[in-house]
Amino acid sequence: MTRPQVLPTPGLSDDAAAPTETLARRHAEAFDARFGAGDDVRLFLSPGRVNLFGGHLDYNGGPVLPTAIDRGTFIALRRRSDDEVRLASVFGDATFEGSLDRLPSERTGSWFDYPLGVVRGLHGRGLTEGFDILYGGNLPVGAGLSSSASICVGTAYALDQSFALGLSVADRVDVALDAERGFVGVQCGIMDPYAVGFARPGHVLWLDCKDRSFEHLPLDFDRLSIGVVDSGVQRALARGEFNRRVSECAEAFRILAPKVEGADVLRDITREQLDEHEHLLPDVVRRRARHVVDEVARTFDARDAFLSGDLERLGRTMTATHRSFQTNYECSCEELDVLVDAAVESPGVIGARLTGAGFGGCVVVLVAAGREEEATGGIVRAFEARYGKRPPVAFFQGDEGPRGIDR
Ligand code: GLA
Repeated sequence: MTRPQVLPTPGLSDDAAAPTETLARRHAEAFDARFGAGDDVRLFLSPGRVNLFGGHLDYNGGPVLPTAIDRGTFIALRRRSDDEVRLASVFGDATFEGSLDRLPSERTGSWFDYPLGVVRGLHGRGLTEGFDILYGGNLPVGAGLSSSASICVGTAYALDQSFALGLSVADRVDVALDAERGFVGVQCGIMDPYAVGFARPGHVLWLDCKDRSFEHLPLDFDRLSIGVVDSGVQRALARGEFNRRVSECAEAFRILAPKVEGADVLRDITREQLDEHEHLLPDVVRRRARHVVDEVARTFDARDAFLSGDLERLGRTMTATHRSFQTNYECSCEELDVLVDAAVESPGVIGARLTGAGFGGCVVVLVAAGREEEATGGIVRAFEARYGKRPPVAFFQGDEGPRGIDR
């Protein structure tokens, strides 16, 4: 299926990099203009995320290493005295208006399916009064930075706070996940809402998607910078490919499981076991399984490299992931490969790979702190020489997760 656009937000550079306070004030003014002024409007901010390691492992029960970023979704909310729900965005005219008791039971194909899925989930959990919400923000859409988890977890947070629903972080993450899977219909894994919901500044999240256990590992921003370069290739039409990867991996597991005692998910299968039985798999499925099995080993390697501060190993592992995306998982595209190839040749670059699901969007580049300009200069020049346009670049700090902010 095709996943609807979340919100057609601005790109990475230009106005989107303005300070949070400025953007928050503008967002509050936009709410007043849309729904009428008043002092009972609350503002919230929910970050996006970049996934550094563990590509396409979450729905295979593997480990992942994402971090929240300091770009996200702004949510302005005002409670109503009736049970009407109005959802609007500063980026387009499509608006949802309906009553809490008669919400659509099927997705509509519009951006508001994401928050609507959350509202539906919370309706059964104490949400009984209506509200107006305006969405906005500075997170590019379709770029691999998880605007969908940002909006879904952020909506759960904003409603929880505004109506005192008494949800835990895990509840909010689950509601967001159910909205994406059950209502929007994307078979995504658990990484994105966890990365947003359980964010801690200055840390990456080590999340084991088999048992959902997690811990925060420190990320030393004095040594390491996280940059992204946007290929400009929109991924929205690639959601069918994403769901296809999910079912190819499920097929690999279905065939291999009877051969491997005690394997509950594809992540449990070792490289030796795969080598022994891979002749049973169709070619495409075999390559998908190979990516998953090797990526699990790479992600454990990355964890060790993080903990020991071995940046060289960290970078090598990251770039190896991209090579596997190109050959085995086939979720890259020419523009992303051009960016990664240029990145690994650039001074100060530690490693590079596509971020998110791929099929377009951004590459994430780990850069030695202080060498950001040198590092991205070469990447931008190589891309411009090939495609005649400069790709937007941004560097991110970590983030503390969804929260209320002042207007
Ligand atoms: C998308 C999905 C995630 C994850 C990544 C790939 O972002 O939403 O659940 O599968 O792709 O790692």
